Amino acid sequence: MSFTTYYTASSLDGFIADAEHSLDWLLTRKNDGSGPMGYDLFIAEIGAIVMGANTYQWLLDHESGPWPYTMPAWVVTHREFDARPGHDIRFTSEPIPAIHQQMVAAAGDKKLWVVGGGGLAAEFAEHGLLDEIIVSFAPVTLGSGAPIFPARQELRPVEVALNGELVCARYEVVK
Ligand SMILES: NC(=O)c1ccc[n+]([C@@H]2O[C@H](COP(=O)([O-])OP(=O)(O)OC[C@H]3O[C@@H](n4cnc5c(N)ncnc54)[C@H](OP(=O)(O)O)[C@@H]3O)[C@@H](O)[C@H]2O)c1
Repeated sequence: MSFTTYYTASSLDGFIADAEHSLDWLLTRKNDGSGPMGYDLFIAEIGAIVMGANTYQWLLDHESGPWPYTMPAWVVTHREFDARPGHDIRFTSEPIPAIHQQMVAAAGDKKLWVVGGGGLAAEFAEHGLLDEIIVSFAPVTLGSGAPIFPARQELRPVEVALNGELVCARYEVVK
């Protein structure tokens, strides 16, 4: 099986982090992980994840506890990061289709998650390897920051919901 979702949260004006790579504007928002398009329901279906170097660096800088993911993770980067023994984290600069193939093999019958950033999600879409985008919009505008998806892409809206303070939308990627 191969089904890839870019699941993210955004400001109303389309930024997934502010100009200082902060998520403070997001992490304070009320929402229910078991509610519509909530994180707990989403992550239960995920068998492999991929993220860019800045997203990984954000996790290193802000997550005080253990590595938060149980499934194999790919970090696309040209940088040298320290290995994390005991966790299946693969640092790579291989082409996206090769990474996708490895993720599918690792995920079994589960789905793939593009954690971010937006440029990486756009790279997957460019190769026809992105199926769905789920966005939770926080009730704030930021004016600048990391863009949610810096490319042109047709989408088909399939679901909307209010989850706490977040307006959630699910889109199929039109291929
Ligand atoms: N709101 C949310 O839900 C959410 C979700 C995810 C992330 N975020 C935040 O949003 C920000 C995202 O940062 P970002 O937009 O800069 O994106 P990013 O994807 O996290 O990082 C981009 C970097 O990843 C590396 N990279 C990307 N594609 C690559 C490829 N094909 N091969 C090799 N390396 C590749 C490059 O770094 P190098 O070449 O230097 O290695 C690139 O500069 C972060 O602050 C993160 O914490 C928010």
